[in-house]
Amino acid sequence: MGKISKFCTCKDLSCPYHPTNHDKGCAPCVADNLKDREIPSCYFNLLDENYAGGSYKFEDFAGLVQERELVDLMAKRRSIRKYTEESIPEEKLKRILQAALLAPTSRGKRPWEFYVIQDREILEKLSKAKWHGANLLAGCNTAIAVFADSDLSDAWIEDSSIALAYMDLMAADQGVGSCWVQMRMRKDEAGADAEQNVRDILGVELPWRMVGIMALGMPAEEKEPYSLDELLWEKVHR
Ligand SMILES: Cc1cc2nc3c(=O)[nH]c(=O)nc-3n(C[C@H](O)[C@H](O)[C@H](O)COP(=O)(O)O)c2cc1C
Repeated sequence: MGKISKFCTCKDLSCPYHPTNHDKGCAPCVADNLKDREIPSCYFNLLDENYAGGSYKFEDFAGLVQERELVDLMAKRRSIRKYTEESIPEEKLKRILQAALLAPTSRGKRPWEFYVIQDREILEKLSKAKWHGANLLAGCNTAIAVFADSDLSDAWIEDSSIALAYMDLMAADQGVGSCWVQMRMRKDEAGADAEQNVRDILGVELPWRMVGIMALGMPAEEKEPYSLDELLWEKVHR
């Protein structure tokens, strides 16, 4: 079997350039999605380096495809604070909640609960729970408030943060705009505790604690993805 010269990163198993179909002859791709896709050359190099002259098995590609997609997604994820009026499709919202529920937790305790808020009045109130950096909540379509039972786990901050980060990434994957809104350790205009304000607005009592709220909506702004060439490698010590 020869070297692969063209390789499709689409997920459509019927695409002739999909690795599973390479054996079947590499017919010209009928799927339009190939035309618009820029396939990074390093991807080919990696494939060719590892596989030159060898034979290709789907399992070999599957890992590479997933690895590339995940790092691309991480580079693509940006905080989006402006949203259209459009509702988030239910399927996308479900994916984002799935990601939250899949997040790892200390000792597997899953101390969190997720409050999905779409009521405009409540969103408006939440946007004033702290003095700065929460106004985007008034314009978002859905907010997901993450509370965690601080009696159940002393790692509730970490557990909540990971769930927020997972939702942020899944939102990017789904083409949904998202932004973390910090509440823990923040104050409102009058100096009152933001986290307590959120508890009061949502009727949640201690020992439930909150790190932050994920603001979500269909994006009305675009941001450049991060470049893998500009990462701060000087922060890595080895
Ligand atoms: C712990 C944490 C708290 C944050 N709090 C807020 C916030 O309260 N309001 C806000 O608009 N953005 C907030 N952000 C988003 C950051 O401002 C944003 O991640 C940062 O500027 C980098 O931009 P990027 O997300 O596009 O990479 C927060 C992010 C993190 C991780």
